[in-house]
Amino acid sequence: MIASHLLACLFAELRHDQAQRVDKYLYHMRLSDETLQEISDRFGKDMEKGLGADTNPTASVKMLPTFVRSTPDGTEEGEFLSLDLGGTNFRVLRVKVADNGSKKVEMENQIYAIPEDLMRGSGAQLFDHIAECLASFMEQLQIKEKKLPLGFTFSFPCYQTKLDESILVNWTKGFKSSGVEGRDVVSLLRKAIRKRGDFDIDIVAVVNDTVGTMMTCGYDDHNCEVGLIVGTGSNACYMEEMKNVELVEGDEGRMCINMEWGAFGDNGCLDDFRTEFDVAVDDNSLYPGKQRYEKMISGKYLGEIVRNILINFTKRGLLFRGRISERLKTQDIFETKFLSQIESDRLALLQVRSILQHLGLESTCDDSIIVKEVCAVVARRAAQLCGAGMAAVVEKIRENRGLDFFRVTVGVDGTLYKLHPHFSAVMHETVRKLAPKCEVSFLQSEDGSGKGAALITAVACRIREAGQH
Ligand code: BGC
Repeated sequence: MIASHLLACLFAELRHDQAQRVDKYLYHMRLSDETLQEISDRFGKDMEKGLGADTNPTASVKMLPTFVRSTPDGTEEGEFLSLDLGGTNFRVLRVKVADNGSKKVEMENQIYAIPEDLMRGSGAQLFDHIAECLASFMEQLQIKEKKLPLGFTFSFPCYQTKLDESILVNWTKGFKSSGVEGRDVVSLLRKAIRKRGDFDIDIVAVVNDTVGTMMTCGYDDHNCEVGLIVGTGSNACYMEEMKNVELVEGDEGRMCINMEWGAFGDNGCLDDFRTEFDVAVDDNSLYPGKQRYEKMISGKYLGEIVRNILINFTKRGLLFRGRISERLKTQDIFETKFLSQIESDRLALLQVRSILQHLGLESTCDDSIIVKEVCAVVARRAAQLCGAGMAAVVEKIRENRGLDFFRVTVGVDGTLYKLHPHFSAVMHETVRKLAPKCEVSFLQSEDGSGKGAALITAVACRIREAGQH
């Protein structure tokens, strides 16, 4: 609050005509409560469409069934492996779950890099690399001889027909390995492991990171029925009534739905709120026209929106004395972490200047103030949009259950949510305004996706074993 007040004061000190011009171009990024309500309503309608068998093909939010029906009941135990692909890093984890009354979960993990050429090379190379990392981790822990159950957190849109089959619909977040879209990622991983022949593994479940996060938080808080990620990408999942999930047979109980909300707007329903900067980021991305909501919200794209605005302002003579540096012309050079750093810089604007210097930009004090305002507006809009989506989700669950008042916990993970100084507060405030009949608590998860995959695997193993007796 203090920081934004200071910023407003600083902004007011800009030459009046300059501030007015800046405001004119940022105007469409400042969303009113009415606009946010409208977006939330459209979101709710698209969720309904995604759930319906006939309407699903034209819905942008695909509402993918996950085949996760029950949350851990605390009686799970054993030793599991998890793979976590799809966030900032690729990780391999060993998770030990103990049923000793204290719900103890122990984890060891190793982070491995996924070089950019592997992200965009052949799928076979990518899965060979994953198998290689898994082998090296097992070697290190001296567990190569064991055939352990594994949960695979694969955080991309997938059609699932059962827990251990997951067909990649399309890549997101900078990945574009060939020959994987339309294929079952479990088969691809099994094939890569078999080819090596030096260890064996029991792949039990494929899990989206939102689902892993919900599960992890649900282990400690039984009100947790929603999972949210705001990191490199953005997405949410929640527990839906089976009778509403028309894509899966059966009416009893609930199933977790991976909404794939990043694709909201891909059918054009967000077009009246997208600015020329959003369109530019989308057009120059790896997947034009796809993941439009995600491109307005998540860490992979916010820096790019800011960069596009800065270039536009410089061309109009509003910044950097009209001179664009070569570095600023480079796609993705303005990292989203700069937004967090710039907004954490309360007084001296020192961070802003040093970041701009690093981008080869000679900045005046006015330049720094404008850049800071741009970052604030872009991040605030992202948080509000995210809140509008979340309000639609909690309202849907409340209506499903015919409740006048609904209390729910949302398990959250992701670098943008965790590191940005204002994102979470603005998002919470938006949810409170747009869903006044819901009391929503947000619980941050630590290592949620990898741990959650292990917990889902543990539940599946428990059920499988019970079936064998
Ligand atoms: C993916 C989702 C994922 C989200 C957060 C999106 O790009 O499509 O599956 O949950 O990123 O990682």
